[in-house]
Amino acid sequence: MRDYILLYINGHRHEVRGDAVLLSLVDYIRQHKHLTGTKVVCAEGDCGSCSVLFARGAEADQAQGRRFKTLNSCIASVYHLDCHSLVTVEGLIEGGAPSHIQDIFAKNHGAQCGFCTPGFIASLSALCEAKKSLSEQDVRNACTGNLCRCTGYKSIIESGLALEASKIKPLADRYLSQQITDDLKARLSEPVQIKTQAQEYNKPKTLSDALAIKASEPQVRILGAGTDTGVWVNKKDWTFSKALDLQLIEELTAVKESDGCLHVGARVTLTKLEQASLKSIPELSRYLHIFASPQIKNVATLVGNIANGSPIGDTMPPLMVLGAELKIERQGAFRYVPLEDFYRGYKDFDLEEDEIITQVKIPIPKGDGFRVFKVSKRKDLDISTVSAAFLMERDGAMITSMKLALGGVADRPLRLRSTESTMQSKPWNQTTIDEAKVSMLKEIQPISDLRGSHVFRRVLSVNLLQKYFNELGAGTHG
Ligand SMILES: Cc1cc2nc3c(=O)[nH]c(=O)nc-3n(C[C@H](O)[C@H](O)[C@H](O)COP(=O)(O)OP(=O)(O)OC[C@H]3O[C@@H](n4cnc5c(N)ncnc54)[C@H](O)[C@@H]3O)c2cc1C
Ligand code: FES
Ligand code: FES
Repeated sequence: MRDYILLYINGHRHEVRGDAVLLSLVDYIRQHKHLTGTKVVCAEGDCGSCSVLFARGAEADQAQGRRFKTLNSCIASVYHLDCHSLVTVEGLIEGGAPSHIQDIFAKNHGAQCGFCTPGFIASLSALCEAKKSLSEQDVRNACTGNLCRCTGYKSIIESGLALEASKIKPLADRYLSQQITDDLKARLSEPVQIKTQAQEYNKPKTLSDALAIKASEPQVRILGAGTDTGVWVNKKDWTFSKALDLQLIEELTAVKESDGCLHVGARVTLTKLEQASLKSIPELSRYLHIFASPQIKNVATLVGNIANGSPIGDTMPPLMVLGAELKIERQGAFRYVPLEDFYRGYKDFDLEEDEIITQVKIPIPKGDGFRVFKVSKRKDLDISTVSAAFLMERDGAMITSMKLALGGVADRPLRLRSTESTMQSKPWNQTTIDEAKVSMLKEIQPISDLRGSHVFRRVLSVNLLQKYFNELGAGTHG
């Protein structure tokens, strides 16, 4: 049993023990390691100033896993980075001189006050890890999780476009050497338990050990990547007394395709799902592209989004219409629950204290009648005002199956069963859509908040159904 967290920062090995394990990563980097290049502005994952690069020891022998990605160090805790190699802006310096990216930023006036700059440099470094020829769209996409209040972005985009990515050496050459990889991998085989005066952190190696911990101590908190809970830590003083981290359980990190379904483990990140669904469910992959930012998706799990259960959580409406089921396990038993039945009210779930969600089973749709829409105040990195998913099958002009689910219109993500039944066996035409809109308005109960009034949400909901009809047109689907 290990009683420390192992991480490498800019190639230096650190064993972190005791209370320091529970610090936010950025506090550890800045206050304990005095690497003050990484900045904090919002402390809630929105601005990207705190972005650092990471690679997982567990993936260090896969080509994808050797590419460093970004995360927000303000909402990650040190324990999230166990057996990872990290690179901060200081680690990008080469032979005492600024790296190519840092140099280009300076030459193109990509920095003014400089507070956001380390974060942009991290995001562009991650882009150069993944691509060797950069378009303007690549640069813009890579920077969706970074905000700048000074430059107006023009000089930052120009800096990105001036990069000669093919000249930049992979960070793995410096920060995932064979020695580092071997060390991280060796430690990955050891379960972790860290006790401080007030808190206990457990990271078992097997699912049966995790279920045993949950059975003996049902109140133990399951940890995902912390992109929801990390914000609560910073803004609401959220904490846990005992926690269970599933990160070392290999079977929970896989996405597998079999029996016409994607089987997504509880530790699968949204970036991984976006890539894994590209061929099988391209509409889901496209939709995940506009979820949060790269920094968030590189660590955030699908199951974390589902288990957080926000009424405006983005993944639930599409998964509901696809007929997704949750595999829920307790010691010695498991059950499958349709996602729509998992939500019983506002943050009220069909999940007992001794249970863990271990997998999401997502049926792959046939035909091209599956669409998902998200309306938010900003296109990128914003929470939905309303989201909507639709899945229709037809036989000629007649609807044989219609599924609708919405987010942001009730106290939970909502499947619209009554509206679906008004459309069943009806012709696919404007009259049916108009009748469905009437039913929809009876079925939803949106509230007013800072993202929009209940009236606006009602208008959006019916307009999204109209948009779906307009997009699909009268072609042959399903
Ligand atoms: C800047 C920012 C942007 C965001 N943008 C979006 C967005 O566009 N759309 C959106 O929907 N969300 C968004 N989010 C919310 C968040 O990123 C997602 O909900 C994410 O999927 C949570 O995953 P996680 O692994 O970080 O979960 P965590 O924060 O670690 O956990 C969330 C909850 O899930 C529980 N949990 C985790 N795993 C399990 C399990 N196996 N069994 C039972 N319970 C479990 C935890 O106990 C906790 O209650 C955003 C957050 C931030 C900070
Ligand atoms: S400080 Fe803004 S995302 Fe971390
Ligand atoms: S240069 Fe000042 S915030 Fe970007």
